[in-house]
Amino acid sequence: MSLTVPVILGSVRSDRIGIRAARFLTARLEARGHEAPLVDPAELKLPLLDRMYKEYPAGTAPEPLERLAALYRRSDAFLVVTAEYNHSVPPALSNTLDYFLEEYFWRPSAICCYSAGQFGGVRAAMPLRAILAEMGMPSIPSLLPIPRLQTAIDPEGTPTAPWLDTSAARFLDELAWYAEALRERRLRGTPY
Ligand SMILES: Cc1cc2nc3c(=O)[nH]c(=O)nc-3n(C[C@H](O)[C@H](O)[C@H](O)COP(=O)(O)O)c2cc1C
Repeated sequence: MSLTVPVILGSVRSDRIGIRAARFLTARLEARGHEAPLVDPAELKLPLLDRMYKEYPAGTAPEPLERLAALYRRSDAFLVVTAEYNHSVPPALSNTLDYFLEEYFWRPSAICCYSAGQFGGVRAAMPLRAILAEMGMPSIPSLLPIPRLQTAIDPEGTPTAPWLDTSAARFLDELAWYAEALRERRLRGTPY
């Protein structure tokens, strides 16, 4: 089953390494026949949240928000790629996520966390899990933590660490299973 899975990246730093993980995962999803558009806050340049998408009168939201809303509504799952800033979620990620809510509902999410150091960003993944659940897109059980991302994946998104292929394959299998299950169930209706 071909799925639509936006890959939401959470760093806007000019020297960011997170783009490597996002490129790796979009390529892996596309190789499986899925659509995996990159949601890049550095390109979107959304200001710190003033109005959520739903707070704009219909048809008056800024173009990037209309585009994201249309994408999210036809999505089957969300893959969130997060760094760890001070043991938590980068502000660019929570700002990007906060613009929407109902558009996420009834879909699973998955967390790829990373860091330049040895812990792979797992301390950011824990608060992110609570945020994603609150937003109506609970995360799948597995994480994909990538320690020392700057050496594990090259700037084009090609892994240099052999374990990544195996881990990513298992992680994406699990995400696809939940995404397919919830897509089939959404077709028969949602509680609200
Ligand atoms: C504000 C800030 C806070 C950070 N806090 C942590 C941290 O708590 N744990 C950690 O392992 N690395 C931390 N780092 C290092 C990041 O792992 C490293 O800078 C990484 O490259 C960030 O991802 P990015 O380049 O995609 O933005 C921090 C980096 C920044 C800029």
